[in-house]
Amino acid sequence: MFNVAIDGPAGAGKSTIAKMVAKKLGFTYVDTGSMYRAMALACIRAGLKASDEVEVCKVCEGLDVSLEYDENGAQQVILNGENVNAYIRTEEVGNMTSAIAVYGPVREKLVELQRKLGTKYDVIMDGRDIGTCVLKDAPVKIYLTASSRTRAERRYKELTEKGVDCNLDDIEKDIIDRDYRDMNREISPLKQAEDAILVDSSNMGIDEVVNELVRIIEEAR
Ligand code: DC
Repeated sequence: MFNVAIDGPAGAGKSTIAKMVAKKLGFTYVDTGSMYRAMALACIRAGLKASDEVEVCKVCEGLDVSLEYDENGAQQVILNGENVNAYIRTEEVGNMTSAIAVYGPVREKLVELQRKLGTKYDVIMDGRDIGTCVLKDAPVKIYLTASSRTRAERRYKELTEKGVDCNLDDIEKDIIDRDYRDMNREISPLKQAEDAILVDSSNMGIDEVVNELVRIIEEAR
């Protein structure tokens, strides 16, 4: 199988870009953040606090998380038989996700599932630890980033277009906090793999980034 690993901080555009590149090249797109988000949703529904490590791990170890693809090829996350795609994109779930993703047992289960997908399909997989842990041997690794202000502005635009009332400075602060947690946790922190190619999208349009990734992947193939 030919696997592509894409890592980077929240809001760098990983999922938008990876989805488009996967479609262009006929790869299976795997969004690993949504798997962690499904687990966080289950913890919120169970009324847990992220700091309650024992209970969080117990609940997560008992969950069944899997992926399906709809007729348009869009990834759907299935949590204990329920399609939870509609519930995992909120700020509340995002913050809970980053807080519980620090626990080893939460990660181990999902890493195993992600590696299995990489042995079955040509995948473009995005997350935080794909190039450094999940798909260490991937022939193409990309580290996609952008400044925190740019990422906050993109998120702000997305939310206001949906009619959500929000504040740009608060969004940027949330992004900076999440980056800090993701980059400084003990297990599999977010960092650029030594053999990853750095792409900074701060001053690039979506199509420009997509074309750059397609070029990198085709060259490696
Ligand atoms: O990519 P995202 O915003 O959906 O990710 C949500 C959180 O999940 C992020 O703050 C960190 C965590 N995550 C992780 O620890 N490892 C991954 N491979 C993917 C996401």
